[in-house]
Amino acid sequence: MTAGLLLPTHQHYRGLPSLEAVAQLVADDLHQVEQLFQHEIRSTIPEVQAVLDQIRFYRGKRLRPLLLLLAAKVVGPIQPEHHLLAAVLEMIHTATLIHDDILDGAQLRRHQVTVHVNWGVPAAVLAGDFLFSHAFTLASYTRSTRACQLIGQVTNRICEGEMYQTLRQQHFDLSEEDYFRIICAKTAELTSLACRLGAIFAQAQADQEQALADYGLHLGLAFQIADDILDLIGNEQRLGKSLGTDWILGKPTLPVIYWRDRLTAEQRNYYIQAWQQSRLALSELRALLRESGALSAAWERAEHHVQLAKKALDFLPQSAETEALHALARFTIDRTF
Ligand code: IPE
Ligand code: IPE
Ligand code: MG
Ligand code: MG
Ligand code: MG
Repeated sequence: MTAGLLLPTHQHYRGLPSLEAVAQLVADDLHQVEQLFQHEIRSTIPEVQAVLDQIRFYRGKRLRPLLLLLAAKVVGPIQPEHHLLAAVLEMIHTATLIHDDILDGAQLRRHQVTVHVNWGVPAAVLAGDFLFSHAFTLASYTRSTRACQLIGQVTNRICEGEMYQTLRQQHFDLSEEDYFRIICAKTAELTSLACRLGAIFAQAQADQEQALADYGLHLGLAFQIADDILDLIGNEQRLGKSLGTDWILGKPTLPVIYWRDRLTAEQRNYYIQAWQQSRLALSELRALLRESGALSAAWERAEHHVQLAKKALDFLPQSAETEALHALARFTIDRTF
């Protein structure tokens, strides 16, 4: 069964523009962001450059630059700082993915072999560090202390979130509250910051800035919940990255937390032991998640955050860009991209 078939609302949104159509609204700006990104990731040392080449042409969806540029355009004209900061956020995001793939033992990312598989773990750790360091250097060119502080605070939170999730691996009693603490820190605060920076450098009013930051936060939560569902039931070829790593490493995510909370104490002990002793096959877990209703409940929770993201947009003027943000909120859980 495909992820799309499991989405109750999937059918209602066929008429929405595609991600590519949304990106067309800021196509020239995205091109400029790309050039800044490409320009920054360079070295005069050929051996280092060889590793960087994989990263330079390691194309993802560019969701964070897209959010930043659209949020800016909702409020006012796009400025050079927007291009620069969009490149900064994409560099930070890419650094976290390189490190995350080491933590998760992933082989595939963006339809390619992961950096650590290609170049070894030490080089991949350092490539992530290189990207973080260059991102902070690039951010400093805005001469904005506020932007640099906000970016630093978000990377602090991403590190905290990833560390906390790693430390809670194999802890099958992880609470729903702790799960949200993790996904807020590692994912949603960055998408929120993308929207906030777009707003700030377009001279947004305080309430507009807050509305866009709220939108980005809920979008990020919905995005990570959907990602965690797809880790369990998605299609690796279509998504172009290794899946099932949360199950392999024993990272409890929302569908698992909902399923666990529906079990009797006896069932819980049985299944947790089976999981810890690698006796719980992914196919069996999938069936249990479906039959218990936990999978649909997790999709509903993602849908709830999509609705909250869209509601935050009520405070903003109607425009093609606001419509695009509505469409993007929907795309986060309609993950055919
Ligand atoms: C993957 O992010 C990491 C998560 C926060 C789930 P994306 O799905 O945006 O990754 P790319 O940039 O498109 O590869
Ligand atoms: C990682 O979450 C999110 C980051 C902040 C890097 P995941 O581990 O679920 O991301 P994927 O599934 O590997 O893209
Ligand atoms: Mg991962
Ligand atoms: Mg991870
Ligand atoms: Mg994932």
